[in-house]
Amino acid sequence: MGHTGGRRGAGVQSSTQIDGQRELSVHPDRRHSAFELVPQKLIYGGDALGHYQGRPVLVPRALPGERLEVEEIRTARGVLRARPLKVLAAAPERVEAPCRYFGRCGGCHYQHFHAKDQSVAKREILRETLRRLGRISWDSEIPIHAAHPWNYRNQAQFKVEGRADGGVNLGFFASESHRVVDLDACPILSPRLNAVLAALRAPEWSGRLGECREIEMLADDRDEEVMLTLRGAFGTEQGKVLAQDCLGCLPGVVCVATEEEGRCAPQVWGKAALVYAVKEFRYQVSPGCFFQASRFLLPELVEAVTGETAGSLALDLFAGVGLFTLPLAQRFATVIGVEAGERAAADLTTNARTHGLNNVRAVAQTVYDFLRRFAQTSPDLVVFDPPRGGVGARTLELLAALRPKRLQYVSCSPPTLARDLEFLQKGGCHVESIELFDLFPQTYHIECVARLVSKDSF
Ligand SMILES: C[S@@+](CC[C@H](N)C(=O)[O-])C[C@H]1O[C@@H](n2cnc3c(N)ncnc32)[C@H](O)[C@@H]1O
Repeated sequence: MGHTGGRRGAGVQSSTQIDGQRELSVHPDRRHSAFELVPQKLIYGGDALGHYQGRPVLVPRALPGERLEVEEIRTARGVLRARPLKVLAAAPERVEAPCRYFGRCGGCHYQHFHAKDQSVAKREILRETLRRLGRISWDSEIPIHAAHPWNYRNQAQFKVEGRADGGVNLGFFASESHRVVDLDACPILSPRLNAVLAALRAPEWSGRLGECREIEMLADDRDEEVMLTLRGAFGTEQGKVLAQDCLGCLPGVVCVATEEEGRCAPQVWGKAALVYAVKEFRYQVSPGCFFQASRFLLPELVEAVTGETAGSLALDLFAGVGLFTLPLAQRFATVIGVEAGERAAADLTTNARTHGLNNVRAVAQTVYDFLRRFAQTSPDLVVFDPPRGGVGARTLELLAALRPKRLQYVSCSPPTLARDLEFLQKGGCHVESIELFDLFPQTYHIECVARLVSKDSF
């Protein structure tokens, strides 16, 4: 673990068979749908785009410029979806995927692609998405923040699937499927989370996880302590015994929450929450609350979002447990953190109090409901870090009416970022800079921070 995989060297490679396991399952009659493809570019979502007989073709685990033999899987809305059979001439950026599950497990998309080149490709995908979906021609620089490309995930949601032999498959969904790929280890997970996964693979656990549907793990910043959330159809007593055994036997596990299907409140065993430190702040994270899932770039991300401005009022919208709220409170006279999740908003209150930050107000509301009633205009800064669906016109309209001086948009989804930025630009905002944080190497996910300033008309 911790390897990056070496480049296979520039130039043409011949007949590299990929995706070998699925190759075995292809019926010979279906091979007539195989054809050669030279993809032109990578698109958001992990696929490469090429053309065959005038039709667009999307293929995973392929790189622009290389020659592949691919096989048609299906056609939907004029787009042909294919899977790679062989690399006939490899791109220089192609590397050997180090993980034996790559191609079957849906968790990673780019292990065949050198990590540095992944970040550069993501930057181009971001530019193109902004242009295509937001009509924003961003030709200025997009600085890339990158870190070690393996063992970075401090959080994971393992799926659990019962097997006919009474055991379970424990891992991630296969791509485009709800079948679970049974994993021994995962090279993007932190060492501690891999140790917990390895322990759960022991025969004595396998038969006991049958009622679980999902096991979520969050490791702390030192990669020592772990919070587990078990979701499933177990009864209260069964959940209690399972949780106590997890606390007693799994390495580093200090807090276990059980969420029974049909019950809204989780039961918590061991410590009530995990504490995660970023820079000088220590954040309490209770079960069920969002916390960032990539550990190496967090201090840089916090600095980029909170570091440059100061003033009297800042709003931190979609605040979670306060990752950005607390550092903002050192620079602004008042900071309001808005978070819809009640437990996360309660953690935010606790976190502010623990740090003696009396200038923080935590509001447990949706951003829309908060903005509908919030009357104070011209905040000096608004930070917003929405889920993948973005902010949307309804909420942005309310935000525009407040006339904020500066905005920091933290986005995990270029398509919704493009849509929202277009709206903000039309409302008189000016995009000042965009930075890319490659929080999730080996996957197609793109995180970025867009800084905006208000023009007078906004
Ligand atoms: C991507 S997370 C960001 C959290 C925080 N900024 C961080 O970095 O830890 C988005 C957060 O928004 C919350 N959320 C989702 N929809 C919301 C809404 N409509 N209004 C307010 N908060 C919402 C989620 O519970 C989650 O905590």
